[in-house]
Amino acid sequence: MRTPLLAGNWKMYMTVAEAVELVQTLLDNLEMVGDREVVVCPPFTALHPLSPLLSESPLQLGAQNMYPADSGAFTGEISPVMLLELNCRYVIVGHSERRQLFGEDDTLIARKTRSALEHGLTPILCVGETQTERAAGQAEMIVLGQLRAALGDLAGEQVAEIVLAYEPVWAIGTGLTASPLDAQTMHAAIREALRVHYGTDTANEVRILYGGSVKPDNIDVLMGQADIDGALVGGAALKADSFLRIVHYHSTSS
Ligand code: PGA
Repeated sequence: MRTPLLAGNWKMYMTVAEAVELVQTLLDNLEMVGDREVVVCPPFTALHPLSPLLSESPLQLGAQNMYPADSGAFTGEISPVMLLELNCRYVIVGHSERRQLFGEDDTLIARKTRSALEHGLTPILCVGETQTERAAGQAEMIVLGQLRAALGDLAGEQVAEIVLAYEPVWAIGTGLTASPLDAQTMHAAIREALRVHYGTDTANEVRILYGGSVKPDNIDVLMGQADIDGALVGGAALKADSFLRIVHYHSTSS
């Protein structure tokens, strides 16, 4: 059984004061959610103040990025060792904004994925096609290509630890969501590719999140799809009431 995972990607929003306030509201209103995991990924500056608030709480801490080295002359970067010191359990890797705006390529994303795993951090590895690629009928080819490149020669046991996030680029921050059926179709294709490369057990273990304009009014149907194991939520994770509604989803098939 795959434990559903709901993760908030706060991007470059939230001062420390705002972050603390949001987390306190989330903690005050989170219902018993023992059957699912809930993660917040604030900006780096908020990780340290949030860390003690979240210890022994049902909320887990994740980072939005990391550099694949323990330490070194990498101005402006944050290492997995630094994230672990702050009790981060997850790290987002290969988000489309990192790929598009900061030039991250498949090689760097593969290194980050491997480094996170080696340090015991769970990568939330993002893949997704652009609108042009989808219109050209290349969505699946692009997504599976990104996946292959990021996973490289990792062994099946390592792959089983990874969380994947299918985030169609055209759905991020636009209010356009992939239809539950389109999302399910891609998730099933990803799982099938994992099955072919790593076997059925690994494929059945990997959690695949959907991301891209996830909102309170579409989460229930998305979570009702067989291969959607959670959500990576941007804009709707910045307000306590909408994120809480997403976390407290009730999956439905239509
Ligand atoms: P969105 O962002 O929910 O605001 O579309 C999702 C993401 O970028 O992870």
